[in-house]
Amino acid sequence: MALIEFDRISKLYPGTTAPAVDELSLAIEAGEFLTLLGPSGSGKTTTLMLLAGFEQPSAGEIRLDGQPIQRLPPHRRGMGVVFQSYSLFPHLTVAQNVAFPLSVRKVAAAETAARVAAALDTVRLPHLAGRKPQQLSGGQQQRVALARALVFEPRVVLMDEPLSALDKKLREEMQLEIRRLHRELGVTMVFVTHDQSEAMTLSDRVAVFNQGRIEQLATPQALYDSPANAFVAGFVGDNNTLPGHVDGDGHLRLPDGRGLHARGIGTLGAGAAAQLCVRPERLHLSDGGAGHANRLPATVLDAIHQGDHWRVVARLQGLEATWFAKLAPRELPRPPAPGDSVHFSFGHDDAWLFPA
Ligand SMILES: Nc1ncnc2c1ncn2[C@@H]1O[C@H](COP(=O)(O)OP(=O)(O)OP(=O)(O)O)[C@@H](O)[C@H]1O
Ligand SMILES: [Mg+2]
Repeated sequence: MALIEFDRISKLYPGTTAPAVDELSLAIEAGEFLTLLGPSGSGKTTTLMLLAGFEQPSAGEIRLDGQPIQRLPPHRRGMGVVFQSYSLFPHLTVAQNVAFPLSVRKVAAAETAARVAAALDTVRLPHLAGRKPQQLSGGQQQRVALARALVFEPRVVLMDEPLSALDKKLREEMQLEIRRLHRELGVTMVFVTHDQSEAMTLSDRVAVFNQGRIEQLATPQALYDSPANAFVAGFVGDNNTLPGHVDGDGHLRLPDGRGLHARGIGTLGAGAAAQLCVRPERLHLSDGGAGHANRLPATVLDAIHQGDHWRVVARLQGLEATWFAKLAPRELPRPPAPGDSVHFSFGHDDAWLFPA
């Protein structure tokens, strides 16, 4: 049995007409790192607040260990919560902030001191116990917030974009830190982000949210390699697209009559409107050589050196589309110049067809 189950949960906020969460079902396994990923307004925070008990569902049931928890107040759900803003108490020291959840639970002083020390050790901040939050860097404040969420040894830790206020380097350090904590403590983590690379770095599984529903729930690798639909393909990783129709042979027929070969997904019958999706790293640049099922002539707009790869941006000839390729430097000893004619070529298995 899953540790946490959402059973057709809906949330309609008062005064709104569209549900923020729409008949959502989701099972979270004990010990897993699950990330809710999706665009702004897709219902990630609402889902987390429903789980934490700060919001009530309009319909459906949430179960912990098989027991409905709607009636349990937040502090009796055994869940530590870390929000986007650090939300530390400015007038309390680091140690007092971390001790706060224990004082709410009326834990004795000696045990509190021991647990606070252990939690600060866990986030590697024991030397800063006496400081006030404003005397800490952003990353240090975020660690204190994490220590405060861990100090009462919750079974589940919920985190809502906890790293979004940090710069890139600090964010990446904290991601590794959170991975380490998850490994060492074995606690179940539910993490919210709209940053797909953060989701890929941290998660055992990722739930891709869109308009209050889950489009796909899968491992990072499966999301990337086998997206369930065009939304997931576009949200997880970069993507080039073209609209068209499926013809009688299962090819994509472009508006100008050209045919392209691609992997069909689902049941796309002849005549169906479809979208072709190709990852930029699956594209090759050739000036006419054979070897790939598909070749699209294009006019180069720009070639940008990005250190580990070239990004070649080009307008597809005869089509209303601009695509880009990511090419390894050794694949492109001499980059094309703006205005050059090239071909984007790709294999049958490099392209997916989704319902439009
Ligand atoms: N208290 C509220 N009252 C009314 N509507 C709300 C409330 N909170 C959220 N919403 C609406 O519910 C929807 C989902 O919001 P939610 O905060 O869950 O999205 P999110 O995925 O966390 O977005 P973001 O990435 O911007 O944080 C949005 O349309 C939002 O406007
Ligand atoms: Mg949010």
